[in-house]
Amino acid sequence: MLRSHTCGALNIQHIGEKVSLSGWVQKSRDLGGMTFIDLRDRYGITQLVFNMETNTELCEQARKLGREFVIQAKGEVAERSNKNMKIPTGEIEIIVEELNVLNQSAVPPFTIEDETDGGEELRMKYRYLDLRRNPLRKNMELRHRMSIETRKYLDSQNFFEIETPYLIKSTPEGARDFVVPSRMNENEFYALPQSPQTFKQLLMVAGYDRYYQIVKCFRDEDLRADRQPEFTQIDCEMSFVDQEDILDTFEGMAKYLFKTVKGVEVEDFPRMPYSEAIKLYGSDKPDIRFGMQFVELNDVAQNKGFKVFDDAELVVGINAEDCATYTRKNLDKLTDFVKKPQIGAKGLVYVKCNEDGTFKSSVDKFFNQEALKAWAEKMGAKAGDLLLVLSGEGDKVRKQLCELRLEMGNQLGLRNPNVFKPLWVVDFPLLEWDEETERYHAMHHPFTSPKKEDIELMETDPGKVRANAYDLVVNGVEIGGGSIRIFDKELQAKMFKLLGFTQEEAQAQFGFLMNAFEYGAPPHGGIALGFDRLVALFGGSDSIRDFIAFPKNNAGRDQMIDSPSPIAEEQLDELKLKLVKE
Ligand code: AMO
Repeated sequence: MLRSHTCGALNIQHIGEKVSLSGWVQKSRDLGGMTFIDLRDRYGITQLVFNMETNTELCEQARKLGREFVIQAKGEVAERSNKNMKIPTGEIEIIVEELNVLNQSAVPPFTIEDETDGGEELRMKYRYLDLRRNPLRKNMELRHRMSIETRKYLDSQNFFEIETPYLIKSTPEGARDFVVPSRMNENEFYALPQSPQTFKQLLMVAGYDRYYQIVKCFRDEDLRADRQPEFTQIDCEMSFVDQEDILDTFEGMAKYLFKTVKGVEVEDFPRMPYSEAIKLYGSDKPDIRFGMQFVELNDVAQNKGFKVFDDAELVVGINAEDCATYTRKNLDKLTDFVKKPQIGAKGLVYVKCNEDGTFKSSVDKFFNQEALKAWAEKMGAKAGDLLLVLSGEGDKVRKQLCELRLEMGNQLGLRNPNVFKPLWVVDFPLLEWDEETERYHAMHHPFTSPKKEDIELMETDPGKVRANAYDLVVNGVEIGGGSIRIFDKELQAKMFKLLGFTQEEAQAQFGFLMNAFEYGAPPHGGIALGFDRLVALFGGSDSIRDFIAFPKNNAGRDQMIDSPSPIAEEQLDELKLKLVKE
């Protein structure tokens, strides 16, 4: 070994010991008589000292070391006179007796510090240097710890980890597939899995009972801070269970992770029907770290001569407590916020509940004090509060108010990343209507089972059918989702019919699964958690990118290896592919 200890291991107890360390030169300080070098590895930083008087040659050698050179230093551990209590090795230093340069380094394009001077693009291009920085190293360590604890928990619950193939055919998850041409099967393509959904169901037919996999999934969709084209799921499936069993098992897993990794005890997760989440928060992934629930105001705000409200399908508001002190400027900013094209509201109505019991609103012309008092009462507002009201078409206005609520939560510091409020959103609709194709789509996927009591509605009012489907939501982030599956042939056929599949189409796409279901499929269901999102949540970030060692940028490119990229003519020929030249 080129080292006796790591750069994070030595402390006051090692004084006098002869040691050897290896690592990267973080920085060096030449103080004339003495040269100090901070030596860094994955574990920490240790100070090396070179004394000009006692060892001139060695000191001169040390002065020539550049940033990020890889060195080995041998010497004796000594107590530091100038201690740095912020780091575990800060009470000691190494009086170096032998120095070996293991490798030189070009000058790095940005500083390898916690706060670096490198921009996003540069850091992505030199990701291996970015990964040397502490914040990223910590994220990788967190990810590792969480995968280990996940495996421990699931193993303790009798789950088998089973790998499923990556070269498959289209999975019915609803995004676009990444496809891979097959050389041996001309004009045919594999698809990379959007999830192992069908395979895990086949494993249940095979009798494996409890399956899991920490697995890469691939989806060709528009990217955002919490979306990557390839991402990782903790994918699970169980047999002989109902919805409650699955929620219990995975609430148990989430609590176990919070406890072992974060040291946080979280309370039992509340269950909220989808319809309530939409009504109270305008979202199927409500952030319940704070209140500010929606209050519908149609009955008190309409028919008072204000056309905007009178013409609206929905008038709905939130109460921002103690915000009546918001200035004109603050309110204008909020109005600009809701009018941003991404949000799309036409305007914002506010009511200040003054301390003296009077009201001041942006619609005083149409609403007298008594009318505004009725709003305040309906919204449970007290003196000092601020009511923010939007109106318009139901679905749209709920989404807009949801954004405004989250913005107010941010402004008022109500979204503390160290507070965790998980919940289960349950009773999702089975189907959603797609205006473009004018047909129903499965909201989750085509194998999700309807609630028993709603099966009759499949014939009469399909849009109203609720599914045995659930999402795990934490702090406004959809961490996971799953469902109880259909395992009855006739019900599955009914579902395909609703989704507009002919029998032939269903057979062509999902025949393998339907055939398997002929051979004694057990009742089963499952869930998949977005592992990158879960790690980012634990790490206190909204963005998953820095919790993935080698992520893609927003254009789906890996800037480090410069991919995607063209392929050689010979490769194209071999695959019988032709490029369409513009
Ligand atoms: P679903 O499509 O809801 O369910 O995916 C499960 C979870 O995976 C995460 N996720 C993503 N994370 C990062 N980047 C992406 N592009 C991305 N897409 C999804 C989310 C999401 O909640 N087979 C079903 C599960 C089941 O029914 O058992 C499925 O994949 O956190």
